[in-house]
Amino acid sequence: MKKTFRTAAVLFISALTLFGCGKAEKDDGTITVGFSQIGAESAWRVANTESIQSEAEKRPNIKLIFSDAQQKQENQIKAIRNFIAQGVDVIAFSPVVETGFGAVLQEAKDAGIPVILIDRSVDVQDDSLWVAFMGSDFVEEGRRAARWLIEKGYTDVKIAELQGTVGSAPAIDRKKGFEEVIADYPGMRIIKSQSGNFTRSGGKEIMEAFLKTEGKNIDVLFSHNDDMAIGAIQAIEEYGLVPGKDIIIVSIDAVRGAFEAMVEGKLNCTVECSPLLGPQLFDAVEALSRGESIPKKIVTKEGVFPQEVAADVIDSRKY
Ligand code: AHR
Repeated sequence: MKKTFRTAAVLFISALTLFGCGKAEKDDGTITVGFSQIGAESAWRVANTESIQSEAEKRPNIKLIFSDAQQKQENQIKAIRNFIAQGVDVIAFSPVVETGFGAVLQEAKDAGIPVILIDRSVDVQDDSLWVAFMGSDFVEEGRRAARWLIEKGYTDVKIAELQGTVGSAPAIDRKKGFEEVIADYPGMRIIKSQSGNFTRSGGKEIMEAFLKTEGKNIDVLFSHNDDMAIGAIQAIEEYGLVPGKDIIIVSIDAVRGAFEAMVEGKLNCTVECSPLLGPQLFDAVEALSRGESIPKKIVTKEGVFPQEVAADVIDSRKY
């Protein structure tokens, strides 16, 4: 049965991925999913891991093999090769960077194992190397951050940008979306831009360096995630400026820590990026195992949370 599923796994049509009538599960009904996670670099990532692991536990037919790549692409490639060698039914992974996965994805395809991309996408010539993507529209998130600044009238500002992991889809796309929107506002200028690798410590360290050279010249901080913004807030306070007032801060993710910072008046706005992808991942895995078609792309619906709503919303946040 498994072989039939795998043979069918390479077939898909336009926007829909269609698997044949074969089933993914073993004779006892178990569907084995190998998942290669990026690491634990941020509160977002920890919530994403929790969502996937807890959802797998709720489903008795799912056996999850979890592998933590510790932010290293080579570890992800190794993990995927291991999953292929173990003969898993489905591979799911969040690629740490966009490029360099073509060969290993081809190996998975040759082995007839469908690959689902979670959260981040890959840059490969052949889109048939993965069957589905589920996650956020990172370009739109960057646009939303820029639009919030414009709506608030911050159109004559010098901006420092904390980028995410170099070469990752969210860092590339958030930058692109943000720059696309501010391009119409010549008064909005990015004067500093560097990667803090999506971590709190990285955000703090790079913000310290920005402040050392630019100091009070910085009006706005655009951070590609909340963790780096929280690290930067500490750097701003240590420098003797008031985060959220002397420097306006907009970041992305909408994790609990960002809401706490907004309630304290230290962060001005966070753009949502939901990590709660576990249920839809396993719905898709089970649909594939039943031989059903699944959409090629499922993009999460998300909002924007300015400081004014933080106190009302914080208790309802799930991550
Ligand atoms: O890929 C999603 C990004 O990765 C989140 O914005 C960030 O916090 C995480 O590390």
